[in-house]
Amino acid sequence: MLGKTVSAPDAQLKQDIQLLCGQYAQYNSFDPELFSKFAVKRGLRNADGTGVLAGITQICNVHGYLLSEGEKVPIDGELTYRGYSIRDLIAGAQAGGRYCFEETAWLLLLGFLPDGMQLRRFFDILSDARALPDNFTEDMIMKAASPNIMNMLARSVLALYTYDPAPEDTSIENVMLQSIQLIARMPSIMAAAYQVKKRVYDGRSMYLHNPNPEFSTAQNILRMLRSDKQFTEDEAHLLDLCLTLHSEHGGGNNSTFAVRVLTSSRTDTYSAISAGIGALKGPRHGGANFKVIEQLEYLKANVRNWDDDGEIRDYLRRVVRREAGDRSGLIYGMGHAVYTKSDPRERLLKENALRLARGTEFEAEFCLLDAIERLAPDVLHEKQGGDKPICANIDLYSGLVYRMLGIPDELHTPLFACARTAGWCAHRLEELSTGGKIVRPAFKSIVHPRDYIPLESRATAAV
Ligand code: COA
Repeated sequence: MLGKTVSAPDAQLKQDIQLLCGQYAQYNSFDPELFSKFAVKRGLRNADGTGVLAGITQICNVHGYLLSEGEKVPIDGELTYRGYSIRDLIAGAQAGGRYCFEETAWLLLLGFLPDGMQLRRFFDILSDARALPDNFTEDMIMKAASPNIMNMLARSVLALYTYDPAPEDTSIENVMLQSIQLIARMPSIMAAAYQVKKRVYDGRSMYLHNPNPEFSTAQNILRMLRSDKQFTEDEAHLLDLCLTLHSEHGGGNNSTFAVRVLTSSRTDTYSAISAGIGALKGPRHGGANFKVIEQLEYLKANVRNWDDDGEIRDYLRRVVRREAGDRSGLIYGMGHAVYTKSDPRERLLKENALRLARGTEFEAEFCLLDAIERLAPDVLHEKQGGDKPICANIDLYSGLVYRMLGIPDELHTPLFACARTAGWCAHRLEELSTGGKIVRPAFKSIVHPRDYIPLESRATAAV
């Protein structure tokens, strides 16, 4: 039943593809100057890097700069969910000894804070929805395991369509139900997909633990991932903080925008959310948290003295010159499309990472990440010129926090997806209730008309 059948392309096919790509390059490039010639909002950005205004939302505010006489003025970043500062939300839940993610999911979906009774009822509704449909794990997860858990999440979300009696119903009532079920089930899918992957691809034992109805999302994630189901309350509260911080980030971030684009076509909930998962997987978006850990490993292997800022700076210079790391030229965990001086999520996570790392085997890794945060801005300025503030983003420390919680690296991005499902669903509901127009931007065509060439005359003309 469990197995993997992957066949690499044979030598002939590889050669054919290489040839095709050589021809592709000939016909498929153009001068990047054309973007400015036609005033194209590349990446849906204005000339100053700010995002093109594409919608109105009441769900979240990502505040990273002020505009003064057309100039961007850097400020410390602020993040509010439905008008409430994330710091206040988290502090409030902590003061009451509560888990925060469920309360946050309610707030994002509904728009107001739940009272005690509403919160308890919501908790129960989520608990009831956590179990996957009968035979789902066997039929949809075990039968075709994937080495990538994000891929499994997207596939499983699409598969849930088949188990829904009204998958095409886009009424608010039905989408609310689907949303709550997805928020509850994503962690269960992630845990099962990981256990099956461990068995099929890593040759290790798998443990399929059922969620506990008394537990919060964070508690259940730790229970389902760990072979002995054990965890401490401190660990669960730290994971809960990560889930809360990752649950929403405005309508313009890549994955949420993808969900809104698909929703605007009035497609079903499963198609829209799986698109969000696909977008989040990318290394420039949610996948960056995995890339930060990979980057940390490269750094540890290539820098001899971890206390030597000069040696770390030289290594980062090689990264941006594409001579080191994954050769993308990116310093992962640094930079943000909106935040300028600081990312408030990173600040909160860093405080907690430091508290947990102090005096442990992880302290040295924490210090290396801190060195990246201190040194990368100058390295990036050397390459790009200017002195535009570049801050660390949430992903710089999230991977280390997950490592400290004993969560495998390959689950860092899937955890982000579990949390962000709350934000995606809130935006889908908002798009359905207030959008009304299909998202349809334009592309400037620069192709010239060509005379059709009959097949028999094409031999040399095509190359
Ligand atoms: N490493 C290398 N180059 C970077 C960079 C980084 N960490 N951050 C920004 N840049 C580059 C951008 O690629 C862009 O170059 P381009 O004009 O040639 O495309 C330039 O600096 C200006 O970038 P800016 O407008 O400030 O940001 P952006 O919105 O284009 O990019 C990110 C935002 C997040 C995609 C970018 O900072 C990045 O790729 N960071 C690393 C990945 C990461 O940590 N992602 C997690 C985001 S939460």
